[in-house]
Amino acid sequence: MSSKKPSKKKSIYIKKTRQKTKKKTKTNHVKKNTFLIKSKYFNYKEIKKLFINRGNWVEYDIKSKQRPDFMYVDSIYIQDKSLWKYKPFIKNIVNDDKYTIAYKNNLYNNMVKLKEAKPYMLDQKNIDLKNHINLNSLVKYKSFFTKHKVCIFKPVGGFAGIGIKTLDSYEAFFNYCKHIISSNKQRWKNSKMNNEKNKISTKREWILQEYINKPLLFEGKKFHMRVFFLYFKKYDPVSKKKEKKGYILDLIPIYTSLKKYKAGDYYNNEIHDSRFKSTKKPIFLLRDIKKAFSIEKTNKAVKDLKIVFKNVLKCIDADCYSESKHCFELFGADVMLDSDFKMKLIEVNTKVGYKTFPEHSDNIDIDKIMMGNLLETVIDGIIPPDNSPKKLGNFIEV
Ligand SMILES: Nc1ncnc2c1ncn2[C@@H]1O[C@H](COP(=O)(O)OP(=O)(O)OP(=O)(O)O)[C@@H](O)[C@H]1O
Ligand SMILES: [Mg+2]
Repeated sequence: MSSKKPSKKKSIYIKKTRQKTKKKTKTNHVKKNTFLIKSKYFNYKEIKKLFINRGNWVEYDIKSKQRPDFMYVDSIYIQDKSLWKYKPFIKNIVNDDKYTIAYKNNLYNNMVKLKEAKPYMLDQKNIDLKNHINLNSLVKYKSFFTKHKVCIFKPVGGFAGIGIKTLDSYEAFFNYCKHIISSNKQRWKNSKMNNEKNKISTKREWILQEYINKPLLFEGKKFHMRVFFLYFKKYDPVSKKKEKKGYILDLIPIYTSLKKYKAGDYYNNEIHDSRFKSTKKPIFLLRDIKKAFSIEKTNKAVKDLKIVFKNVLKCIDADCYSESKHCFELFGADVMLDSDFKMKLIEVNTKVGYKTFPEHSDNIDIDKIMMGNLLETVIDGIIPPDNSPKKLGNFIEV
């Protein structure tokens, strides 16, 4: 009797089992994926559960010689040099090409080039004050004040309202520029300070923007929406190409001014400046604005948001830092509505926090929802979980 050849099916099976045993470590456990999280915003205990419950993740051992599979850093940890030695496979930060949207001057230049995006931008002039040291040349902005009456002047790369001024005349604008120029012109002479980052840190770059004089009001107060925009640069091992994707979170908090609105009195931040710290309670677009106005108007706003961020995605093509194969970043955009429900994109911020109102019964803790959604939308597609977690679906693709 001739000996029977093993069937093809069987030999494939043997090969597969061999591959499996190869992946096992000495202790006979299948190698797990590792996460390294350094966050000021997330509750680590809660986050850890999200990973562990997926079945194939463990905490990264900082003594390990292997690289972490996923590293997440936010707030002060982004600048923490001691963390730069880690070379994660997936990272939550993209390279500096993100400033095509995250600087107020670039955002405007890039968005107005797109026909569909232009109506969502306010009229704007980008100004390098080094070009106006002699002051006389500022006169070319006089017509901008004739056209818009009230304008807002902001330093590029500024935050927390620092340096921002609302101005209702060309003369007020001229005087403010004169003051900024005289306090900074010495350091502008340094030719080493000519790159984009240094120009911004030395207060050369500003934007002069049309002011929304008739904002939509919520309970009598001016407000803006905080839209969480997720940018994802994913590597496709089959085509060996990277593709970009964009999403917005359907939980959109609203931040109001401290006091009720009235036009005029432009230096009064209590009525003109909307931000988290002046907001008294949790307000959300799809809950409270919907109730206060109408479902139709709110649906229209959501439709507009999708158009706005589909175009913001066109304006960014930031890549990963060289050490990472996949990367993503979460941006916090400020969006306003005027009294006709017309939408305007104000700015796109890096360094996003998730401040809410834990003491209020109708609060929604965005931080608790965020990491689960990031895992679902970004990580699970790259490293599929062993156990299937509950679907969340708060990110809407744009
Ligand atoms: N064009 C505008 N018309 C009316 N109000 C505006 C306009 N631009 C900004 N504001 C108001 O000023 C606030 C601060 O503006 P903006 O977000 O551009 O500056 P910022 O200092 O960079 O803010 P952040 O602290 O959010 O980084 C807005 O939240 C909004 O209330
Ligand atoms: Mg802002």
